[in-house]
Amino acid sequence: MIGILYFLALLSSTVARGHVGLWTEGNGRNGTNGGNGNKCTCDAFLPTSTFPIKDMVLVEQTAVEISNRLELEMGKLESYETKLTSYAERIVNLTVEIERMEKNPGSYNNAHTEDVKIEIKQVEALIVELQSSIQGSTTVFESLHEQIAAMVETLTRLEKTYDKNVVLATRREYIKVQLQLEECERRHQELFNPNIGSCAHTGIIKISKPIVSQLNAHLSTSYKFGGWGKDSKPIPDRESMYWYSAYSSAAIHDIRFYTNYKNLILRNHYQHHTLASGWRGTGNNFIVRDNTLYYQINNPFGMAKLNFTTMKYDQRVVTKASARFSYAYSSNQNFDFAADETGLWVIYATEESGGRMVIAKINEPSFGIEEEWQTSVYKPGVSNAFMVCGVFYAVRTIDIQGDEIFYKFDTKTKQESFISVPFERFQDNYYNLDYNPTDQKLYMYNDGYYVNYHLWFNHTAKAIEESPALST
Ligand SMILES: *[C@@H]1O[C@H](CO)[C@@H](O)[C@H](O)[C@H]1NC(C)=O
Ligand SMILES: *[C@@H]1O[C@H](CO)[C@@H](O)[C@H](O)[C@H]1NC(C)=O
Ligand SMILES: *[C@@H]1O[C@H](CO)[C@@H](O)[C@H](O)[C@H]1NC(C)=O
Ligand SMILES: *[C@@H]1O[C@H](CO)[C@@H](O)[C@H](O)[C@H]1NC(C)=O
Repeated sequence: MIGILYFLALLSSTVARGHVGLWTEGNGRNGTNGGNGNKCTCDAFLPTSTFPIKDMVLVEQTAVEISNRLELEMGKLESYETKLTSYAERIVNLTVEIERMEKNPGSYNNAHTEDVKIEIKQVEALIVELQSSIQGSTTVFESLHEQIAAMVETLTRLEKTYDKNVVLATRREYIKVQLQLEECERRHQELFNPNIGSCAHTGIIKISKPIVSQLNAHLSTSYKFGGWGKDSKPIPDRESMYWYSAYSSAAIHDIRFYTNYKNLILRNHYQHHTLASGWRGTGNNFIVRDNTLYYQINNPFGMAKLNFTTMKYDQRVVTKASARFSYAYSSNQNFDFAADETGLWVIYATEESGGRMVIAKINEPSFGIEEEWQTSVYKPGVSNAFMVCGVFYAVRTIDIQGDEIFYKFDTKTKQESFISVPFERFQDNYYNLDYNPTDQKLYMYNDGYYVNYHLWFNHTAKAIEESPALST
């Protein structure tokens, strides 16, 4: 209800400023005739089927609803934080106590030792309980993201069909909740998994529902080929930077940088670089790392990079890599760049292996290939691939809505295994899917939309030892 009232107030203020002209006055004024016998006519062009009132009210209502739920979640997260702090303090106190007992085993009686043991058990139980509450927020965020994805679709449709100024106020509401959710998730992430950068797990076990930010900066669904994300090893002061690059064919021409998430969704870039004509790229499996774009070039066929700090280009031919094998969605994807906790990688297929994929580690200073690993997956059957903690993950498309990680290869142990970790797409096609170790998320550029996913890892006993509560 609040949503509708707010919307109506908004609408009347817009009308008062004369921006919209939904209502027009007829011949008369103030409902009286002007003395020449004309009657007042007041034509309302309002809720005809052509004006998106219903859609806008719905988006508006959704925004208010999301905002309320987020405030509630934020409150919960604050209370979890307080609890965590106090548990951490109790653990510190208990540790001190145990150290004291170990130093003077004679001076404590059994009852006291028993008390300490009980207290340890209590704190452990509280932490387990807290962890499951914190985890509960994930479900809430997922449902909020679903609502937001629907908003994004409606807004995109409205912006394409109607005057952008009419949609602007509704769009601001969307941006507000989008940022609120981002902040809430960041806080949640800090509580839920403060061990970003840690590889104390045995791999991905679950992928969230697609988190849809919005349609690209060109506001064009024909800009299907491209990518977006964050720098995986940002230089100082650029930690919150986002990048975006897309085109209507499988080429890379230019790239835009945004100082932060807010500016990304406001479509306010602060830098726009166009690649020099001899250095245009292809394939859409590019990434940004250390303020440098890594991408594929076709002449000579190989890897290229552009360092935005120095604006210097460089390239390397990879003799073994074949131009014949690409991913399932497009024929130009020969080199797939990836970055993880352990460094920079490039993935390709070779003639020698009959189109099976090879993982190669790139030495960042020399831009040369350090080592290669042969996998047993045939590249044309793969939709995309990425690396996490030195482990290669290959993804394939199962049906019109879903994909799955079906294969992994650990470069440390050279062990491969066939697995099944399914996930949903938002739209049909994608040419860019990458992991980012700075936030442990997967980034997908999905038919022009910015989409990302949260990942869940299988934490080993070691990882549990270093779990959130205990490491605070
Ligand atoms: C319309 O009504 C307003 C306020 O009642 C009055 O000030 C104004 O003079 C009226 N205009 C005409 C054309 O009657
Ligand atoms: C931990 O010990 C300090 C100092 O002895 C004490 O003030 C504090 O209340 C203790 N905290 C808890 C949670 O037991
Ligand atoms: C980019 O250039 C800067 C400045 O010379 C340098 O410190 C950095 O290592 C370069 N990065 C890459 C990836 O080439
Ligand atoms: C997580 O790892 C453990 C130990 O390696 C394994 O037994 C278990 O099956 C894994 N769980 C999943 C969901 O993969």
